[in-house]
Amino acid sequence: MSVAEEMRKLKERAMSCTDCDLHKTRTQVVFGEGNPEAKIVFVGEGPGENEDREGRPFVGRAGRLLNQVLEEIGLKREEVWITNVIKCRACTIDKDGRVKNRPPRVGEVNACKKWLDAELKLIKPTVIVCLGNPAANLLIHKGFKMLEERGRWFESSPYAPFIMATLHPAFVLRQKGEAFERARADLVNDLLEAKRKAESTDKRGGSQLTLF
Ligand code: URA
Repeated sequence: MSVAEEMRKLKERAMSCTDCDLHKTRTQVVFGEGNPEAKIVFVGEGPGENEDREGRPFVGRAGRLLNQVLEEIGLKREEVWITNVIKCRACTIDKDGRVKNRPPRVGEVNACKKWLDAELKLIKPTVIVCLGNPAANLLIHKGFKMLEERGRWFESSPYAPFIMATLHPAFVLRQKGEAFERARADLVNDLLEAKRKAESTDKRGGSQLTLF
């Protein structure tokens, strides 16, 4: 079976997952999308309102910024794989009845990580980029400090020879004025570095530079 077919089957199984309480409030499961044989995988936190409605990852404001940055560095969404730590929207209803996104809970991440694990094992990417802390805590190390460790390569992942974390596009959008410009530039630089790393490395992690 091709990787694409295996991914389709995996998605089919994930779409009816009821392993945590988020299935009770979701509109639909938001599985990863893109090229199932991509060299680069981006892992966000979890679907928000727009993603929950459309059934696709990163299609809201944060997704538009991610698209812009990918375009700026010469990458197309279809070339990479874009997914999340959790596949269903995590939200709470406040006292005025407003539905608000919230970070995933440990139990939700634990219940959901089998899907991310299976996605990454199928794709076998060269580079994984964690967008924000939940992905970095899960895939790089617990207690990840974004301000200190962002943009740094780690070679300890069982899923890819190289993994790094950068600012979540939603965090960038929450910054104002110069802080926004700085955060956006950090995001662009980190993704560019990830693209270069993927281009200069074959899928098993060896350098593509031939010396002789
Ligand atoms: N934020 C995420 O982390 N993932 C999405 O899919 C959308 C917004």
